[in-house]
This record gives sequence, structure tokens and C-alpha cells, in this order.
Amino acid sequence: MQKLGLRIFANKMAIIGQDISQAKNFLKAGKLVAIPTETVYGLAGNALNTAAVASIFETKNRPSFDPLIIHTSSIERVDDFVGEFPEPLYKLAKKFWPGPLTLLLPRKSNVPDLVTSGLEKVAVRVPDHPLTNSLLEILDFPLAAPSANPFGYISPTTAKHVQDQLGEKIPYILDGGSCQVGLESTIVGMENDQLFIYRLGGLEVADIEKIVGLVQIKNHSSSNPQAPGLLESHYAPRKPFLLGNLDELVSNHLRGKKRFGVMSLSKTFKDVKVEYQKQLSPSGDLKEAAQNLFGFMRYLDEQNIEVILAEEMPVEGLGNAINDRLKRAAAEK
Ligand code: TXA
Ligand code: MG
Repeated sequence: MQKLGLRIFANKMAIIGQDISQAKNFLKAGKLVAIPTETVYGLAGNALNTAAVASIFETKNRPSFDPLIIHTSSIERVDDFVGEFPEPLYKLAKKFWPGPLTLLLPRKSNVPDLVTSGLEKVAVRVPDHPLTNSLLEILDFPLAAPSANPFGYISPTTAKHVQDQLGEKIPYILDGGSCQVGLESTIVGMENDQLFIYRLGGLEVADIEKIVGLVQIKNHSSSNPQAPGLLESHYAPRKPFLLGNLDELVSNHLRGKKRFGVMSLSKTFKDVKVEYQKQLSPSGDLKEAAQNLFGFMRYLDEQNIEVILAEEMPVEGLGNAINDRLKRAAAEK
């Protein structure tokens, strides 16, 4: 009996492949497909089909107050579902699309309420991944896609991460290898004439400011109605995740009974088993650290340890966005 059960289980996993016409057929039929992007893998469905969008929320176990990002293949196609493109945001799009930038823009009435959780603005981006961009080009609708992880857990940066957690629930995963950026997109919008960053991400604040001047950062939590998805606890491993002075955390834990793992930028610890410690970037490169972050969090979460110890990154460039994810991983659940 058990064997049979296992076999059925195995058959139900998603197909992993690189066939965009197969992906297109599933999407046209209202089904969901996981797609690679330069930031993280997305769980995609037809953004203009309410039933498909509803099944995204259901598959991720995501609360419906947390709106989705619409992905399209070019700046021109944004007109299909966006009413107006304010000049400063258009400049950013021109400069950084395709890329890890999401813009909040006034939506047209063909965008289902469920996509925006009833908000008047819709989040939009043109991702930068050859496979996904070719798929978007052959579709006659845009794709709504949150990160392809169960709500609150670490975002996936490989097809295997998606298979491990959502493989039983979706028919197809488009395999585009490891994500090059590794952090979600930076979210930018406007209120009156002021530009705001609502989520720090793969595009650095300094690069944005070079194009549009100073922006304000409003990167926060459940109390921020503009980005209700940015809950305090997010991107979180299942194991307790402690963030602080790593030398102190490690020496305290060496005296205790709990098995622990360590995630540092570049430090190594001679008294900790090699397989229980991960260096995000041995040379201290924050771009490499961002690429490795979610994969290493998952790796440590799967080891035979009880707690993960970690340290913040230098407060510069991508270090800010990485620290944001580390703090959410460490936040009380
Ligand atoms: O890099 C990314 O952005 C990835 C890839 C797949 O594109 N997607 C992603 O989606 O990170 P998700 O759903 O995990 O995060 C989307 C964030 C949420 O925090 C949500 O609250 C915010 O975008 N958001 C979406 N629509 C919004 C809107 N209309 N107003 C304010 N915030 C919005
Ligand atoms: Mg997410």
C-alpha cells in the first residue's frame, strides 16, 4: 500500500523543463507555471483571469490582502493594463527594465481586484530572464507572479526549491537555472510628487537616485498600507534564526547544548562543523552574498541543527536589502 502511495505521490510532482510552448499551454488553460526571473522564481498565472489569480493565492496559502506583481515583456505592453505612466517612473522603467525594479502604477479596469487587493495602483515589472521573457512575448496576456514559495517562507532561487515546496500543486516549472540577483525586486512608487521605495531589493537605491534624485524609503511592515505584504516576519526559515554579533552568538552557543548552524558574510569558525557553516561571500562581495542568501538559508534550515546564527551585512549597496531580509527572517513569528 505504502509503495503505491509513494508512486502516486511521485507522479504528481511538477514537470521541470525549458519548453515555453508547453508553459504557454498550461497558462492559457488557466493553470499555474513557476517561472525563473533574475530575482527569484515566480508562481505565474494569467493576470487578467480572476480564477487563475485566485489559484495563485490558494497555492501559496497567501492572504488576499497581499497584492501581486504583474510581469510583462516590454514597457510598451504596460499600456494594456496601466492608465497613466508618471514621468519619473517612466524614466526609471526606461533605464532599468528589464530588471529588478517594480513600479506602482494606476491600473486600468481590466486588472482584477484580486491582483491589487482592491488598491488603485498595480505593481508592474519587466523581468530579465531570457526564458521568461520569451514566454511573455508569446503570450497575449501578462502574468501575475508572487515569489514561488509558501507564504512567509524563504523565496526560491532554483527550480528545485520550487519543486520541493510547490511541486505537488503545479503542473510545470520552467527551469532557468539559479537566479542571478537572488533578492526580490525593489518596489518604487509615487505619492503626490514624492517618490518612495516600498521594498528594498535587487536594484540599489543609489542607482535609482542617480536617475530621479532623492527618494524616500518606506520599507516597512504590516502597518504600511502601500505594501501590505511586507509583514515583519517574512522570508523566514522554520528554525529559529538569531541575528547579532556572530562571535558572541557562536561562543555562547558553543557552551550550550543546542546544535547550531552559522551564516556569516565571510568569517569561518574553527569550532563549528564545516557543513553547518555557510559564508555568503568569502571575498565580502555583497552581490555574491545576495545570490547565495536564500539558498543558504534553506540549506541550513534543512540540516540537523536547532538554531541558525547569522550576522548583518555592511550597511552599503545591496547590504541594506540583505539586512532587510535577515531581519524579517529573525522576526518573531
Ligand atoms: O522580484 C520580485 O519582485 C519577485 C519576482 C517573482 O518578480 N516577485 C515578488 O512578489 O517578490 P511577491 O508577491 O513575493 O512580493 C510582492 C510585493 C508584496 O510585498 C506586495 O505587498 C507588494 O509587492 N505589492 C504588490 N502590489 C502592490 C500594490 N498595488 N501596492 C503596494 N504594494 C504592492
Ligand atoms: Mg514573496
